[in-house]
Amino acid sequence: MNNFSFANPVKIIFGKDTIKNISNEIPQNSPVLIIYGGGSIKKNGVYDQVISALNGYKVFEFDGIEPNPHYETCMKAVAFIKEQKIGYLLAVGGGSVIDATKFIAAAACIEDSDPWNILLKHLPVNTAMPFGTILTLPATGSEMNSGAVITRTETKDKLAFDSTAVYPKFSVLDPETTFTLPVRQIGNGVVDTFVHVAEQYLTYPTGALLQNMFAESVLRTLIIEGPKALKNPDDYDVRANLMWASTWGLNGWLKCGIVQDWSTHMIGHEITALYGLDHAQTLAIVLPGVLTLLKAQKEEMILRMGEEVFGIYNNMPKEERINLSIQAVEDFFNQMGVKTRLSDYGLGKETVEAVSERIKARGWKLGEKANIGYEEVKEILTLRL
Ligand code: NZQ
Ligand code: ZN
Repeated sequence: MNNFSFANPVKIIFGKDTIKNISNEIPQNSPVLIIYGGGSIKKNGVYDQVISALNGYKVFEFDGIEPNPHYETCMKAVAFIKEQKIGYLLAVGGGSVIDATKFIAAAACIEDSDPWNILLKHLPVNTAMPFGTILTLPATGSEMNSGAVITRTETKDKLAFDSTAVYPKFSVLDPETTFTLPVRQIGNGVVDTFVHVAEQYLTYPTGALLQNMFAESVLRTLIIEGPKALKNPDDYDVRANLMWASTWGLNGWLKCGIVQDWSTHMIGHEITALYGLDHAQTLAIVLPGVLTLLKAQKEEMILRMGEEVFGIYNNMPKEERINLSIQAVEDFFNQMGVKTRLSDYGLGKETVEAVSERIKARGWKLGEKANIGYEEVKEILTLRL
C-alpha cells in the first residue's frame, strides 16, 4: 500500500425529513444565499422545506445554475454576494449546483486576481466562504469532497479544481428528495458513481486490500440497487443505498494508498464541453475504450473486478475473461439506460479528431501511468464509434 494522509471534515446528515436540521448548522446571524438550478426543487417540495427550515434567517436566492455549471453564471452570483454582504451559502441540488457553489465560495474571496485562473492556472484557493449542501441527485460525490468542475461557455473549456477550502461544512442527504429524478438522471447517477470507483480501482495493484474490497462493495451496491431504482422509483431503501454509495464513491476514502486513473473523466469533460452530452453519458462511452486499450496494464484489476463484482469465475483463457469483464461493465451501463457508443449520440469520426486535438493542445498525458496522450485518445474513441 502506498503512503497517504487522509482527512474529510464534511458532516453528513442522512435520512428522511432531515432538511429541517440545517438551522443547527448555519449561524443565525449570517445572511444566507440559497443557490439552486432550473427549478426541480420547486416541483418536488425541497424548496419549501428549505424555506421553512430557514425561518428567522435573512434569506436570499440565486437560481438558474445550469447542468455543467457555467463560469459566467457563477460570476453573477459572486457579484450578488458582494453586493448583499452574504455570509453563508446553501447549495440545493445535484452536482452542478454544488460544484457551482464551491467555485462561487472561492471566487467571492478573491480580490486581486481573475477567478478563472483557479481553473485555468490552478491558482491556489486558500480561503472560501462557508457553505452547506442539500443533495438531490446522487452521482458526483461533490457533497463530501473538495473538487468542482466548471464550464466556460465562451471557450468551451470544462475544467476542474480542488481545494480543502471548499469542503462543504455539512451535507444533507435525504433519499426522499431523489424520488422525483427522471429515469435519465437515475441512470446517469449510477454510471457516474461506477466510473468514479473504476478510476480509482481499475489501475494496477498496490496491495491495498481494504480499499479494493470497499470499491467492490460500492460497485456491487450499484449493480444490485441501480436496476431496482429504475423499476421501483419510490423504494426508500434502494434510494438510500444508492445515495450513500455515490457519496462513498468519491469522498477521498477509496483513493487512500492506491494509484488513480481519471483519464475517462478528462476525455469525457472534453466531449461534454464540445457537444453537450451529459457527464455520465460521456463516461459510459469512454470507459470501455480505456479498459480495452489498456487491458494489459490493468489486467490484474480487471480480472479481479470480473470475479468479485460480476462473478466471472471460470476456466476460460485470461484474455477471454478480461473481455467478458469489460463487456459486463458496458452491459451494465446499457441496462441503466445510458448508451455507450458515440454513434448513439449522433457523433462520428469528427469527434474523435476534435477531442484528441484538445488533449494534445492541453499537453496532457493521462492515466495512472501518464501514457494516454493524443494518439491513445484517438484509439480509445475510435473503438467507441
Ligand atoms: O437544475 P434542476 O432543475 O435542479 O434539475 C437538475 C438538472 O437538470 C435535475 N435534478 C437534480 N435533482 C433532481 C432533478 N430533477 C428532479 N428531481 C431531483 N431530485 O437533474 C439535472 C442534472 O443535474 P446535475 O446537477 O447537472 O447532475 P449531476 O449531479 O450529475 O452533476 C453533474 C456535474 O457534476 C460534475 C460533472 O462534470 C457535471 O458538471 N462532476 C463533479 C464532480 C465533483 N465535484 O467531484 C465529480 C464528477 O466526476 C463530475 O465531473
Ligand atoms: Zn464523474
